[in-house]
Parts: sequence; structure tokens; C-alpha cells
Amino acid sequence: MSTLAALHFHHVTVDFNDVVALRDVSFDLAPGEFLAIVGPNGAGKSTLIKVALGIIKTSKGHATIFGTDARRQPEHIGYVPQLKTFDRSFPATALELVVSGLRRSWPVRIKPAEREQAHNSLELVGAENLLKRSLAKLSGGELQRVFLARALVRRPEIVLLDEPATGVDFLAEHDLYDLLERYQSETAATIAMITHDLAAARYHASKVAVLNRRLHGFGLPEDVLCEDCLHKAFGHIGHKHGVLAL
Ligand SMILES: Nc1ncnc2c1ncn2[C@@H]1O[C@H](COP(=O)(O)OP(=O)(O)OP(=O)(O)O)[C@@H](O)[C@H]1O
Ligand SMILES: [Mg+2]
Repeated sequence: MSTLAALHFHHVTVDFNDVVALRDVSFDLAPGEFLAIVGPNGAGKSTLIKVALGIIKTSKGHATIFGTDARRQPEHIGYVPQLKTFDRSFPATALELVVSGLRRSWPVRIKPAEREQAHNSLELVGAENLLKRSLAKLSGGELQRVFLARALVRRPEIVLLDEPATGVDFLAEHDLYDLLERYQSETAATIAMITHDLAAARYHASKVAVLNRRLHGFGLPEDVLCEDCLHKAFGHIGHKHGVLAL
């Protein structure tokens, strides 16, 4: 049996000129885990996922997915980007966006087999009715679903999600966790998800990473969603919002 970590960070530091986004971050996530990554705004959460994907280069250290550079194995990796950074006026339909998850380049002509795969993936996330819709006209929650369909279209072994529940209503959020847990039980996939919802992290995740540039905690939810780790990462805010009472 392979002992390779699904996600491996080895002393990763990322500097953006004068900003240190990540400092000496190391951890191993075993295959099949559901990791929640939590931390305040600007903590380096999105940077961490982009390092894993090879989109952002490290200043020191390295990160691998199943022992290899992520860029060598796009077919094994699904990614849902943080939608607040997505340009909503991008001229495309839901179908095109999902098919783009099957290719390295933007789809100009879509083959029937690709259309079928995209349809199946949209169906998986309960959004097959959106197939022909223009992205510019979708609601935030609809767009989240289409991005999730794109991420799952190749049935990846690891799914990285950057705040997929932000801007979706309570029921849609419930659907999202339900869907991810079903996907995981059917495929044994690994999931790493950024969230601001500490209660959801505690309830759904098998491991939690508490980040604020440094990794302040990595382990079982009940161990790392503790006063000390949260205080180090969030300062007084953790107390203010009552997250310690979880
Ligand atoms: N491409 C970039 N160039 C320069 N600075 C950057 C870049 N990307 C991120 N940063 C900086 O790195 C830090 C971490 O940013 P990051 O987006 O990873 O935070 P985050 O934890 O995802 O925050 P949020 O909760 O707001 O999404 C911030 O100070 C940000 O301004
Ligand atoms: Mg972010």
C-alpha cells in the first residue's frame, strides 16, 4: 500500500516582496482525509492551496500532491477557486466552464463525450438545469455549484476547495457537505477545504489546519480547535465571536 501523503508541505515559506504570506509551514495529510483549513482574512489560506497546485512558487521549502508536483497530474486534482476573485463578466456558459476542467486549454468546440461528462458532473451537484446558462447571469450559489461540477468532472482523487460555502444559503451549504461526503465515500478521495465556519470544520472535517501565516495547529478537530490554537491564529476575535464555545 502506498504511504505517500495526499498533501505534503515541507517547510514552505512564501514571500510576496515585503509580505510573508506563509512561514515555515509543514504538514502531511493522509489519503482519504477531509481537511478544513481555517484562519483569519489574509492568513495565507488561498496561498497555501495555490502552492499545493503549483500556481504560486515557494520562497523556501516545497509541496507535493501524492508525492509529485501538482502540475504533472492535473487529472487527479479538482480545484474550486475562491469566487470573490473570479471575474463574473467572463463570457462563457456553464457547459464551457465545466468542459474546461477536462482540458488544459479553453474548449472552442465541445465533443459529444465531453458534453455528456459535463452534464453528468452538473447533475452530480444538482445543477444540470444550468448547462446552457451564461456565467454572468448565475447567482453566487449557482456559480459555486458550476465550479464544483468543473472540479469533479474528472472524478479527481483530491479536491481543493477555497471557501466553497461562502455566499450560499444554509440549505445549499448542507447540500454541499452532503455531496462532498458522498463523493468521498464513493471514491475515497481526499478533500482540503478552506472555510470560515469553525462549527462546520469541527463537524465535517477529519483534520483541521489552523493558519495565520504560520501553522498554529494541525490535527483532530477537537484537539486543534482549542483555545490556545485559535487565540494564536485569531487573537481576541476568536473570543469575541464565541468560537471557543464550540
Ligand atoms: N499575488 C500576490 N501578490 C502579493 N501579495 C499577495 C498575493 N497573493 C496574496 N498576497 C498577500 O498574501 C497574504 C495572504 O493572502 P491570501 O489570499 O492567501 O489570504 P487568505 O487567508 O486566503 O485571505 P481571505 O480569507 O481574505 O481569502 C495577504 O496579505 C495578501 O495580501
Ligand atoms: Mg482566500
